[in-house]
Amino acid sequence: MIKDIQQEILKLKKENDICILAHSYVAHEIIEIADFTGDSYALSVKAKDAPQKTVIMVGVRFMAETVKILSPEKKVILANPGAGCAMADQMDRELISEVKKSYPDYKVVAYINTTASLKTICDVCVTSSSAVKIVKALPDKNILFIPDCNLGAYVAEQLPEKNIKLLQGGCPVHAAVSADEAIKAKKEHPNALLLVHPECKAEVVKLADYVGSTSGIMDFAGKSDCREFIIGTELSIAEHLQYQYPDKMFYYLSDKLICKNMRLNTLYDVYNAIVGRSGEEIILDGKTIADARKCIDEMIRLGG
Ligand code: 13P
Ligand code: SF4
Repeated sequence: MIKDIQQEILKLKKENDICILAHSYVAHEIIEIADFTGDSYALSVKAKDAPQKTVIMVGVRFMAETVKILSPEKKVILANPGAGCAMADQMDRELISEVKKSYPDYKVVAYINTTASLKTICDVCVTSSSAVKIVKALPDKNILFIPDCNLGAYVAEQLPEKNIKLLQGGCPVHAAVSADEAIKAKKEHPNALLLVHPECKAEVVKLADYVGSTSGIMDFAGKSDCREFIIGTELSIAEHLQYQYPDKMFYYLSDKLICKNMRLNTLYDVYNAIVGRSGEEIILDGKTIADARKCIDEMIRLGG
């Protein structure tokens, strides 16, 4: 049954010149039919270079908006219109415009998990895989880092020469994991390495053997000589890794690591988006695209 739908999707996407981008958090059967999969940074760069005129994003809304900003001439469809990002929805343009008044000589660095509208008033975007590199490359010392205070704290720790101001925001999924859970998991699996996403709290990051983006974690686990890993990000990553490396063992850091938004995406959503039965076309006005693009282009320039 799954194979039949997958075959139909592969046929239809070829006939209709469609590129399917899937974030690494979506289900295995979607990853199998995607043209590109990866972390937020890889997807935004791939989207820019994809030759197809239509892109279906199987991920969350800010990712589809990023594709539209980078490729305004393309038709960009978010496979499941209900898939937002709890972090991206925490801070809007009005709030940050007010905050900026208190920090006039600060560069505003926005995690890519922000709305297109908010990006229009920020100086540069970063992703989890590029944040340290980009903040380091900025000539400015004073940085206002939004919205993820955990990723921001991780960047600040790596770059003590910078003066980084943080706001109280972040991913409720990753931030729910405690140091006690990490200590317990390490006790249960004494031979495993702990690989953690920087959206986790500093107390968890401190215990990790490796800290990185979703793709960074997957690459590290693949290349490592170690046979066992505790995965500190969405449960789907441990699942994908287990398929990819059946001779290694992958354990969940915490069963709280479930992103309900990402999990809204199904293989049927992809099929329905292709045949025009569902999905939402991302529409952004020209000024939002032009203003938001500046900080995404800056991210690609400094992070490339
Ligand atoms: P990555 O950039 O690591 O893919 O992270 C995106 C995300 O939303 C993690 O929660
Ligand atoms: Fe957003 Fe967190 Fe889900 Fe990532 S895991 S998409 S940051 S809510």
